[in-house]
Amino acid sequence: MSRKRARISALGCHVPDRVVKNADLEKMVDTTDEWIHSRTGIRERRRAEPGTPTSEIALNASRKALDLAEMRASDIDLIIVATITPDVPFPATACILQDKLGASRAWCFDVSAACSGFIYALTIGAQFIETGAHRKILVVGADVMSAIVDYEERSTCILFGDGAGAVLLEPAEDETGILDFYHETDGWGAPYLNMPAGGSALSTSHETVDQKLHFIRQDGRQIFKYATRKMAEAPQILLARHGLTAADIDLYVAHQANARIIDAAAQRLGVSPEKVVKNIERYGNTTGATIPLALGTALDEGALEKGDLMVLTSVGAGLTVGAMLVRWSGVPWK
Ligand code: ACO
Repeated sequence: MSRKRARISALGCHVPDRVVKNADLEKMVDTTDEWIHSRTGIRERRRAEPGTPTSEIALNASRKALDLAEMRASDIDLIIVATITPDVPFPATACILQDKLGASRAWCFDVSAACSGFIYALTIGAQFIETGAHRKILVVGADVMSAIVDYEERSTCILFGDGAGAVLLEPAEDETGILDFYHETDGWGAPYLNMPAGGSALSTSHETVDQKLHFIRQDGRQIFKYATRKMAEAPQILLARHGLTAADIDLYVAHQANARIIDAAAQRLGVSPEKVVKNIERYGNTTGATIPLALGTALDEGALEKGDLMVLTSVGAGLTVGAMLVRWSGVPWK
């Protein structure tokens, strides 16, 4: 059986309405707009109303993708949700989303790879299209980061925002689609970025809550260095495999963690600045949603057209590394 290539056939993006500007954070922690913008490139981020489940923003993004594709939810074979802020520890948010969408034929599971979650999920979904097992797959990256951020801790609360992005995967009909992927995991880096409590190693108790161990912890400098290196090296490995260089790509779509990380990684890879997609100024780091939201930004700006060659890349807690080579198939938009 010849393998089919998977293509992204639709994209839907959703961010909550409420905007949290740096000036708002100045009132909550000891920080300034100048510090935040100069160190991260972020001006504002979106924040869902407290108690909003991730499945809800995932639903909004998924409905947009389905509407644009003129596809019924009941046509979907498989739903994969990449998130580190599931509605509940179990069942999977993908199962909850399935019910809300009415995608009754689909089987569903979540992927936990933090900021690399979307690319990991895309890689997994593409395999089922390539083998011919499925023809319609919904891949969602969604996180309500505000649920696990300590708004009294200035080095993390400034970084994160809430958002969701959904794509549909279908068999490619031409030479476009997902061409290849490259992933790495460095489990030794798990302590650098994590949520210490709430799992089997340290179940939730009054003490863990008092010690704020149910919030994100990170070693920002270690993550900064690692992300800068890996979001250049992983695409480099992928491009070399195809006899390509950075000069051959039309667009560099990196996980939006910090504008300085994106710029440094792009420079290291040799990508010229006009090929770099950035929306971190408006959305901050939305974890599983940054890559699809960045694709939406590229489409809004007219920077992405059918046939364009792009590299997607990410680094996240784990530590996880993702890179994907995509020849854009074109999607219905707006
Ligand atoms: N406002 C003002 N001062 C601050 C703030 C703030 N919001 N946050 C930290 N500082 C202070 C620190 O306390 C420190 O003060 P000190 O020197 O008196 O101790 C000083 O600023 C410098 O701190 P650094 O950590 O060295 O600052 P840095 O330039 O590295 O920026 C940052 C910190 C923005 C967290 C950066 O390290 C970073 O972006 N790292 C990547 C982390 C990340 O992206 N995590 C997201 C998940 S992983 C991923 O998406 C890849």
